[in-house]
Amino acid sequence: MMKNLDVSRVQRPLSELANSKLDELEIFSSIASTNSYLLAQPGPAAGRYRVAIADHQTSGRGRHDRRWISAPGSGLCLSFAYTFSATPEQLPVLTLAIGVGVIGALQHLAVDGVSLKWPNDIVALDGKLGGILTEVQSDTGDGVTVVTGIGLNVQLGEDIDFGAESDWAHRAVDLNSIKKKPPVRELLAGTIIEHLYRTFSRFENLGFAGFAEAWQRHDWLRDREITVDMPDRQLTGVAAGVDDDGALLVDSKSGRTRVISGSIVMAGQAEISR
Ligand code: BTN
Repeated sequence: MMKNLDVSRVQRPLSELANSKLDELEIFSSIASTNSYLLAQPGPAAGRYRVAIADHQTSGRGRHDRRWISAPGSGLCLSFAYTFSATPEQLPVLTLAIGVGVIGALQHLAVDGVSLKWPNDIVALDGKLGGILTEVQSDTGDGVTVVTGIGLNVQLGEDIDFGAESDWAHRAVDLNSIKKKPPVRELLAGTIIEHLYRTFSRFENLGFAGFAEAWQRHDWLRDREITVDMPDRQLTGVAAGVDDDGALLVDSKSGRTRVISGSIVMAGQAEISR
């Protein structure tokens, strides 16, 4: 089994500002779920954050009650709790901004070729490199604490095919497959934390407008034929980016539809077999 991450090495890439806003950074060799753990902890004061990282999760969770499975040492399981002083109007699309933040962190580490699949997947080589799960802890009048979990495949063993039970990608992709010498996990974690902090504070000030242009540049679904499972129906059409509110735009025979909440159940060119 891989060695547990070293706290001080994770903290090393943090800027003075991000360091000064950090309440707690905890590293677990095994835990049920870092998101569930942070959701059960007291929220940080407004403008501050805390982080939990695990080498292995026994009940890792993804969107829509799916499981997030990753073998010990095979990936990064990181959760970040931040307290907004007031509930951001566009809170439902924070996950999109987080995706841009994760890409920024990866680019900083010279990991390129990563895209975003609306709303919460991190894609490389047309497979799933990672996923984002954003959950609201509490909305107490004094602010709202949000927990965002990032699962990133770093080095998958042969025995694991999927980072998550997935309905679109037929394979999981790891960082090792897209970069010859991937960053060590401490540097990866620290850089992601730095970028998450910047993302949360930028989102607090600017909302999704601060991320929309960058998001469009990394849109993996753009111009693909997709089917979207929406709460009330299914829609098939061509993905046409996102609007200023982060809604997915889908062009179909009946015109353009804004999809606020839904899952992509099929992506035309994404039927990948190993
Ligand atoms: C998805 O693809 O649906 C999102 C996956 C998110 C997984 C991460 S791993 C760290 C954090 N803890 C969890 O239980 N889930 C998130």
